[in-house]
Amino acid sequence: MQLLGFKDYQQQGKRLAKELGLEYYEVAIHHFPDGESKVTLPNRLDNEIIFCRSLDHPNDKLIELFLASEVARQQGVKHITLVAPYLCYMRQDIAFNPGEAISQKIIGQWLGQLFERVITVDPHLHRIDNLNQAIPNAETISLSAANLMSEFLANRPNPPMLLGPDSESEQWVMKIAEHTGLEWEIAGKQRHGDRNVEIMLPEIDFKDRLIVIVDDVASTGRTIAQTAKALHQRGAQTVNCLVTHPLFADDTEQVLTNACINHIWSTDSIVHHSNVIQLAPLLAKAIKQ
Ligand code: R5P
Repeated sequence: MQLLGFKDYQQQGKRLAKELGLEYYEVAIHHFPDGESKVTLPNRLDNEIIFCRSLDHPNDKLIELFLASEVARQQGVKHITLVAPYLCYMRQDIAFNPGEAISQKIIGQWLGQLFERVITVDPHLHRIDNLNQAIPNAETISLSAANLMSEFLANRPNPPMLLGPDSESEQWVMKIAEHTGLEWEIAGKQRHGDRNVEIMLPEIDFKDRLIVIVDDVASTGRTIAQTAKALHQRGAQTVNCLVTHPLFADDTEQVLTNACINHIWSTDSIVHHSNVIQLAPLLAKAIKQ
């Protein structure tokens, strides 16, 4: 078995290869001036390979994975695993208006045609219970970063209170609280637009508390920023945040800084300087099983 990584996710790919005791190879990508991609694979491939690439900013990456998997098949590869710690297009799981593409279903089916196995971490599944419903034709493994987050928080000098910004975050917050024994609460959220969210904090005393906001995704950062602002208004002393997937679209970091977030922590599902938790051991364990 060989592991094939990509330059944009090189450190993570190398770490995963090391955990698995495999040699690391890289898929070479050349971008032509008009934006097209040329994809080159090593010329001798095993029967079974792993592609490791996270799917933030996914459009080019999906096309390149498609090209890469086609070349691999032409070279006789029989089993391809995609390790994509962040799995794209999982949020649009329903057509809110006539004519809207249900991306989760369409992209999920496509991935199922390209790969025998898809492994990811904390996919954003809202209205379905398991990843196999989104990717019906492949074996799917959906991991959770909650235990690694628990270990990270358990090693902090002062025990914080955990706060989930919306009902969906309860699953992660509860798991982390179970492992660490930390106090936890969940806020309510109403989204009025991509960059417009309203947060309703629970009616408890936050005065002088040290809080860590826990969520799966920070995209525009508005969810976390509004939560932090509300906590500061209620007298919280320090607000930090911990997310699985730091998508961090355009001005997110500034938005979080303006909301007086002290520390931004994340897993390395997406390359970002806030990465403090490495997923390689979790991913390797799942691949070995
Ligand atoms: C939504 O349900 C997710 O769990 C996140 O809260 C959401 O994706 C965060 O988005 P943003 O950072 O754009 O507010």
